[in-house]
Amino acid sequence: MTWRADVLTIFPSMFPGPLAESLAGKALEAGIWSLAATDIRAFGLGRHRAVDDAPFGGGAGMVMRPDVLDAAIGSVADADVADQRPLIALTPRGAPLTQARVQKLAVGPGVILLCGRFEGIDQRVIEARGAEEISIGDYVLSGGEIAAFVLLDAAIRLLPGVMGATESATEESFAENLLEYPHYTRPALWSDRAVPEALTTGNHAAIAAWRKSEAIQTTKTRRPELYARYIASAARAP
Ligand code: ADE
Repeated sequence: MTWRADVLTIFPSMFPGPLAESLAGKALEAGIWSLAATDIRAFGLGRHRAVDDAPFGGGAGMVMRPDVLDAAIGSVADADVADQRPLIALTPRGAPLTQARVQKLAVGPGVILLCGRFEGIDQRVIEARGAEEISIGDYVLSGGEIAAFVLLDAAIRLLPGVMGATESATEESFAENLLEYPHYTRPALWSDRAVPEALTTGNHAAIAAWRKSEAIQTTKTRRPELYARYIASAARAP
C-alpha cells in the first residue's frame, strides 16, 4: 500500500521540491509513497484570504488562525473516516524528532503535516485536532516546510523498496544510540594520509571491532547525552 503524505502549507509550490529527486523521487514515481500539498490560503478569510491575525496578549508577529487551519485540516483528514494517519504540526515547540519516531511513522499508513508560519499556530486547533507537535532541532526556521522535508525524507528512505540492498536500517546511526564510524575509500594513501590499518587487513571481526570502537569514542566526545543512552541500552541488551 502507498504511504500517503499530505502537507498543509501556505507555500504548496515548494512541494515535492527536493523530494522529487534521488531515492525519494524514484519512490514517488514508483508509487511507493504519494504526496499532496494543500494550500492553507484556499481556506483563508475575506478578499485577502487571511490565514493569520495578531496575538492575544500582544507581542511580535502574527498567529495562524484556528478556524482557517481547522478547515484546511478537515479537507484532508475528514474526507476518509478510516484515515489513521497522525496529524503532525512542525514547530520549534515540538518534541525533538528522533530516528525511533521516524521508524514508527515509516511502518504506518503515512502522515498529515501542518506547516506553521509566522509566530506560531493557535494552540486550540492543535489541541482540538490532537496534533502531535514535532521540532527538527533547537533552532528557528522561517516556517515548518523545510522541517516537513526533513521528516518526510527520513521516513521515505525507510519504506520497503526505497533503499534497495544497501545497509539495513538497524545497522545505521542512531538505531543503536551511536554515531556512525568514519568511512574511507580509495586511494589507500592520499595526500600523505593512510587509511586506518584495521580496515585494510581483510579481517572482518577486526574491522567490526575497530568500527564499533570508533563509533563509541566519537559518540562519547561529540554527543555525551547520546552516549549515556547507548550505555543504558547496551546494559539492558541480552
Ligand atoms: N518551524 C520553525 N522552526 C522549526 C523547527 N526547528 N522544527 C520544526 N518546525 C519548525
